[in-house]
Amino acid sequence: MSSTLNEFMPPVDLYTLWPWFLSVAAVLGVRWLFSVPRKLQHIPRVPVIPTLLSYARGEVEDVRIKKLLLPYANRGEPAILVYSLGRWMVHILDRKIAKDLSADIITYPKEVPPDGLLLWRFVGYENIILSDGETWKRHSRVVKTALNRNVPVGEFAALAKKLFSQMGEGGTTAIGHNFDAIADGNSPFVRQYNHVMESIASPPYLVAPMLEKIFPRVKTIKAIDDLVASFQTILAHKKENPGNDMLTYMMEDKEMTDVEYRDNIVVFFIAGHDTTAGAMSSLCYYMAKRPEVQKRAREEVRRAMSKNPTGEPTIAELGKMPYLQACICEFLRVNTPITYMVPRAAMKDAVLVGANGRKVLIPQGSSIIINITSIHYKEEYWPNAHEFNPERFMGISKGQETEYDTTQWLPFALGSRMCPARNFAMYEQRVLASMLLNEWEWTISSDSPHMDGIENGFSPFALSLPKDLYLNFTPLARK
Ligand code: HEM
Repeated sequence: MSSTLNEFMPPVDLYTLWPWFLSVAAVLGVRWLFSVPRKLQHIPRVPVIPTLLSYARGEVEDVRIKKLLLPYANRGEPAILVYSLGRWMVHILDRKIAKDLSADIITYPKEVPPDGLLLWRFVGYENIILSDGETWKRHSRVVKTALNRNVPVGEFAALAKKLFSQMGEGGTTAIGHNFDAIADGNSPFVRQYNHVMESIASPPYLVAPMLEKIFPRVKTIKAIDDLVASFQTILAHKKENPGNDMLTYMMEDKEMTDVEYRDNIVVFFIAGHDTTAGAMSSLCYYMAKRPEVQKRAREEVRRAMSKNPTGEPTIAELGKMPYLQACICEFLRVNTPITYMVPRAAMKDAVLVGANGRKVLIPQGSSIIINITSIHYKEEYWPNAHEFNPERFMGISKGQETEYDTTQWLPFALGSRMCPARNFAMYEQRVLASMLLNEWEWTISSDSPHMDGIENGFSPFALSLPKDLYLNFTPLARK
């Protein structure tokens, strides 16, 4: 009797194979989803799985950058691919390339954001942040004119006083939240704003923006639309009641449409509120952790203001506080408020050369992000980069040389699109910090979750804002 192969094989029920087919399809689908486009394959990349795990664990941008990108920066890589916002993006880790890119706003304009991102539904598209070319020039002119009218030191001092009145007799204070006082933290409007920002910042949606289409977040969309309508109401109110403030100055430009005004007001609110709250919280944190720094800064402030009974510093007095200025520069480095910049699009192929001579081809169509945190933590320029050390910046306010290459400091970005409010923001920090130092002393509890390092909250646009930071404030007799 002859036997055939079929006699040795058990009969196969195709139906039982469906889990196998499904697994193969899933693997192929995932590979397709995360495959690196051919034109980018020459650039080293941060592996996808640790990146996704980092999002799944809810790690914030600065933690992810220090863990996953910084090793490449310290190895001298000028650029690296990172999977985020549903695609592979080129992160720039080298200050020289960052400068060259920022200098050429024609070849590297802002990228048009992927459809459906809720952050941009909120911020809008017709504003200084997202526009380019002639439209950007118009927005920029209006914004700069409004910002450069004067440095409102008196208004900053009034904000500080408002903050102090909220702090009452002192005690334990959630400091990040308290800086909401700057934008009236108790108002339903600021609460509505904080709620919207928290809702937008959902890790799965940041990794895969396509989810916005598959599982639209109806409640968040409604909250955003309500908030945008509130901004519209502020605009209408301001038109009826002009004041001596930036919004009124902006509205003096008759070329802007109502939508452009509204979108720029949203930008100003985010830029002015979150960056200031984050920056001041970081300053308080580092000074609480380093009481000797706090003491030295307070002595300097009190010396500079010794003949001033008002408790509100003048511009001349602020000029006599170089150590405070150095502290501000150092916390803007070590917990930079904006960890990376808004993506740019490459309009043509270009080979860019890093400070160490290493070259990288950035192909046309790439999404590019200048990664500020990586540059601020490069050991080559910032030895013991994790340490808060204001000495790095001593002398720069007088234009003196320091042993550090402070051109590697870019919290306000670079080039013609750098922050137009940098002068304004630095004065704001200096006034608030000097008044705080003059009137309060503060410490951090040994059981604080921030004891081993500052912990920022999750943010929809790469912002470092310390989360639930409680500090103990004690009022001092004013000198
Ligand atoms: C410590 C405080 C601040 C920091 C660290 C900071 C940082 C930055 C950075 C890094 C950018 C570049 C963003 C990019 O192109 O991707 C930027 C742009 C901008 N910032 Fe600031 N900022 C601060 C405060 C402010 C304040 C208080 C305002 C307004 C009142 C403001 C208004 C703007 C505007 C309008 C732009 C867009 C400029 C343009 O695209 O031409 N910023 N800021």
